[in-house]
Amino acid sequence: MRRTITVLSLLLATTACATAPTGSGLMTVAEPMVSPILTGADALDTMTYAQPQEARVTHVALDLALDFDEKRVGGTANLRVLADPGEDEIVLDSNGLQISRITDGSGRELSYEIGEMVDEGGKGAPLTIQLGGARNVSIQYMAPADAAALQWLTPEQTAGGQYPYLFSQGQAILNRTWIPTQDSPGIRQTWEARVTAPKPLDVVMSGVRQGEPEDLGNGRRAFRFVMDKPVPPYLIAIAAGDIDFQAIGPRSGVWAEPSVLQRAYDEVADTEEMIDAAEELYGEYRWGRYDMIVLPPAFPYGGMENPVMTFLTPTFIAGDRSNNGLVAHELAHSWSGNLVTNAVWEDSWLNEGVTSYFENRIVEEVYGEQRAEQEAALAFAGIEDVLAEVGMDAPGTALHHESTGAEIGSAITYDKGHFFLRTVESIVGRERFDAWLRQWFDNHAFQPATSQLFYEDMMANLVRNRAEADRLMLREWIFEPGLPSNVARPDPAAFAEVDAAVRDYSKIRTAIVDPATGTAFPGAEGVRLRTPSEWENWTSAERQRFLQRIPTDLSARELENLDSKLGLSTTRNNEILFLWLELALANRYEPAVPQTEQFLGRVGRAKFVSPLFATLWSEGDWGRPIATRIYAETRPTYHAVTRGAVDRVMGRSE
Ligand code: BES
Ligand code: ZN
Repeated sequence: MRRTITVLSLLLATTACATAPTGSGLMTVAEPMVSPILTGADALDTMTYAQPQEARVTHVALDLALDFDEKRVGGTANLRVLADPGEDEIVLDSNGLQISRITDGSGRELSYEIGEMVDEGGKGAPLTIQLGGARNVSIQYMAPADAAALQWLTPEQTAGGQYPYLFSQGQAILNRTWIPTQDSPGIRQTWEARVTAPKPLDVVMSGVRQGEPEDLGNGRRAFRFVMDKPVPPYLIAIAAGDIDFQAIGPRSGVWAEPSVLQRAYDEVADTEEMIDAAEELYGEYRWGRYDMIVLPPAFPYGGMENPVMTFLTPTFIAGDRSNNGLVAHELAHSWSGNLVTNAVWEDSWLNEGVTSYFENRIVEEVYGEQRAEQEAALAFAGIEDVLAEVGMDAPGTALHHESTGAEIGSAITYDKGHFFLRTVESIVGRERFDAWLRQWFDNHAFQPATSQLFYEDMMANLVRNRAEADRLMLREWIFEPGLPSNVARPDPAAFAEVDAAVRDYSKIRTAIVDPATGTAFPGAEGVRLRTPSEWENWTSAERQRFLQRIPTDLSARELENLDSKLGLSTTRNNEILFLWLELALANRYEPAVPQTEQFLGRVGRAKFVSPLFATLWSEGDWGRPIATRIYAETRPTYHAVTRGAVDRVMGRSE
């Protein structure tokens, strides 16, 4: 299959209008870098209405006001359009945007139409604008309070409790609910923004802040941002709240609410070292600064790789940096994902799988081989579990797949992707592999990619001969379900000690517990289960492994025993706490209910929230009333992403 990379004949048109003035005085990026689009069938994004080969957006200039009272964002989006001279129409994505007026660069009204809203998982509706020769388009609009990308937090949902907070989450197709543009990962755009917010709130975006905020004299301030490198629009992000900044290294720092900042800083203090390690591995960090913001716990993900401003959940803070593989992961996206981007979401392993591999390499450099190997082994167990559950033939288990359920998604997209690259590395050797991956980032920088392109690049630039190609099994890895036979398994020694403890635990347990009823045999009630005395010295990964491997049917007595010995319900590590709550709820352990309720009322991270509700839901008469009662309280506090996931779990569809 051949695919053509086109900048179209349109490049000329952009340069010609590059300095055109616009109504708001924005558009300071004079000569935007225009990235090519892919035009092959495998790069056709079915989740956009845009027709980038006809006309496409190359630059977005936003002039927006944040309205915390009405929970609305409104203002103007100025778009620069690249189109053949004869082309008279541009199609944008929009989902729920209220558009009041569209004009060209000189204020002339342009006609437009919002097509039918298709309920296709958030695809929204096409916004078609008649250009009438214009190559600058100015859209006056408002994103309503229910815009799915945005979450407006009440002061109670923040650590400080005094001020409201706003953040956005664009990936995958949510940004069309607050920005009218072509919302496809294969259509890169430079952007800039002027955003006003009430004092004393600070605004950050996934672009470089320009100078000091301007005091508007009406209780508001204006902040300016520029992203002069073309990015897919899902990477445009905003957060606003009562936040402060602390520098880490010369090009890195962290934002958080004042009362969280010190803990946040302590957890991410290795970031500059991680950037150095990443550069050493795969080449220059091309985005200038690398800052992070630790958001309130309602943030629906662990992290989001927004350029120059990674968004992080505070729930990764454990006090010992044990969960900051998350930072390595979002940082690695500065290459895999943000530099080279999946053209379509069916290829999201190109973002997430390559990043998971890269993350592990950073962890190895900064924290050593043992930690990296243990984290890889946890990931591998995840692949095995999912394959055992859905079967080796399930189509969703191919790296290139249509999006399916979230569970299957992350084990495959992330972990099978990671193990694919690990396998290739083990076959060709680290030196050759690293050189290949570095050239992949360099040669496709600021461009979209597909599975097919990745395959062809490996064949052209890595694979030496037929015999090696046979050994690598590239097509099988990328396009076939299941797990190829050449997989480079993690070192079984990674968890030797913990696995021995699990075996001991199970042995002792079956000796005293009736497997049919899950209760202790008469006379054995007084026998206290032995739990590993090593726990204290175990790494976070080892503790997770233990909790994932011990028998899942535990009596109340056993759970109580585990909790009191291991301090599970009082741990500061939310990954451990989550596993504990899962185990406890699956065994209908009443004492865990109040803590679950408290956790679900505070945390909105879908990875934790959705499985906890699912576990309760699967516990029928016991769990469903509890889930229903808790969700009635917590649903309004969740981001649309988390709400959507829990609604599906609990059989609601709204
Ligand atoms: N880009 C993802 C988050 C994402 C994925 C948002 C799909 C929307 C759709 C981010 O980089 C990520 O993978 N986050 C993980 C981090 C973990 C794997 C270390 C998360 O949030 O748990
Ligand atoms: Zn990721």
